[in-house]
Amino acid sequence: MTKTIIAPSILASDFSKLGEEIEAIDRAGADWIHIDVMDGHFVPNLTFGPPIIKSIRNRTDKIFDCHLMIEPVDAYLAAYADAGCDIITVHAEATKHLDRSLQAIRDLGKKAGVALNPSTPESVLEYVLDRVDLVCCMTVNPGFGGQSFIHSVVDKVARIKAMIGERPIDIEIDGGITPQTAPLVAAAGANVLVAGSAVFKGDGEAGYRTNIAGIRKASDDKIA
Ligand code: DX5
Ligand code: ZN
Repeated sequence: MTKTIIAPSILASDFSKLGEEIEAIDRAGADWIHIDVMDGHFVPNLTFGPPIIKSIRNRTDKIFDCHLMIEPVDAYLAAYADAGCDIITVHAEATKHLDRSLQAIRDLGKKAGVALNPSTPESVLEYVLDRVDLVCCMTVNPGFGGQSFIHSVVDKVARIKAMIGERPIDIEIDGGITPQTAPLVAAAGANVLVAGSAVFKGDGEAGYRTNIAGIRKASDDKIA
C-alpha cells in the first residue's frame, strides 16, 4: 500500500529557532520539509530567500520541498536550486511559459512541480504532464497559514489523479490539512500532505510527533 508523505510547512514554525524547529520535525517523523517562498507580489506576504534556505540545509537530510509563490519566477530558479531545494514548485499562474519553467527546473537537476490555486482549472496541466514530477493542489488561497480548507478542490484532485494515470507524479495538497481533511484528499488521490498549523502546535517535538502521526493515520487509512 502507498503511504502518505507528510511535509510540514515551516511557515508555521518559530522563526527565532528555525534550525532547531527543522531538527525537531525531522525527529518527529516528517518525510519532507515544505518551504513556502513568498514575494509580496504574487501573494500578499513575504518569507524566505535563498540564503535562509541555505543556512538550514545542513539541519536535516530530508527532502526540501520548495513552494515558490513568486512572480516572475524563472530568474530565481537557479538560486533556489543552489540553496539546496530538491523539489521546486512554481505556480501555473505565475509564469507565462510554464513548459519552459519546468524544463529549467529539470535542467538544474531538480524535481519539477506545478501548483494550482483553488480557482485554477486542471486543464493547465494537460500539455506539461511529461515534464512534471509533482502537482500541488492548493486548498487555500496562497499567502498565509492557518486558513480553512476549500472543499471544492477535492473533486479537482480526483480529476487530476485520473489525468495522471500511471505517470510517476506526486499529488500534493497544501492548505488547511488536519486529521479531519486529510482523508478526503487521500481518498481523491493525493499522496503528499503539507501541514503547517496542524503540525506546529502543542509542546515542541513531542507535540509535533503526535500531530504528524494523527494526520498520517487519518490519510493512510484512505490512500489509494
Ligand atoms: C500557504 C502555504 C501553505 C501553508 C499551509 O500559502 O503554501 O504551505 O503554510 O499552512 P496550513 O497548514 O496552516 O494551512
Ligand atoms: Zn506551501
